[in-house]
Amino acid sequence: MKILVITGSPHKTGTSALLAEQFIKGAAEAGHKVCRFDAAFKNVHPCIACERCHNTDKGCTFKDDMEELNPQLLEADAVIFVSPIYYYGMTAQIKAVIDRFYANDEALHGSKKSALLLTFADDTVESAEGSAASFKGMTNYLEWEVAGIISARGCSAVEDIKKTDFPKQAYELGETFG
Ligand SMILES: Cc1cc2nc3c(=O)[nH]c(=O)nc-3n(C[C@H](O)[C@H](O)[C@H](O)COP(=O)(O)O)c2cc1C
Repeated sequence: MKILVITGSPHKTGTSALLAEQFIKGAAEAGHKVCRFDAAFKNVHPCIACERCHNTDKGCTFKDDMEELNPQLLEADAVIFVSPIYYYGMTAQIKAVIDRFYANDEALHGSKKSALLLTFADDTVESAEGSAASFKGMTNYLEWEVAGIISARGCSAVEDIKKTDFPKQAYELGETFG
């Protein structure tokens, strides 16, 4: 299975990076081919709803790092989203990537699996509820099968998440994916 992991944190060694690494480790060990796109270190312009992608055959207005991601996205059997929570949502960096799915909206419908891995400081899952609802709405719309959601609460910094079971959960999700 070809699995694309899209991350949203600007922390290369932060809490969500640890979940991404563990998921990828499990998936790679299970024999999957994994690609990773770190949105916070890429140049992805937010969608401006110009409709050029839908109304012409010229594609998206912006020629940026989505040109690297789009072939991987279209080919992927599964797309995994990994993000910290910023103000009760996923980061702007990963949301910019998701909004740019619009240029390939039709082709992206159906026959993919997906999962969501979130990290955040609060002890309750309230901070993650908006992102989980948004993810469920998006996957339902795109007709993608949801394979799992991990909400790693109480994880302000990488030292916190290392004391929890969440990295193991991410590893096992990768290992059993398919
Ligand atoms: C701008 C900003 C907004 C945040 N908003 C929330 C929030 O709404 N709820 C929460 O529990 N934690 C919030 N946090 C804490 C982060 O989600 C938390 O530190 C997370 O582990 C960072 O992940 P990372 O190390 O992968 O970047 C916020 C952090 C930042 C920098």
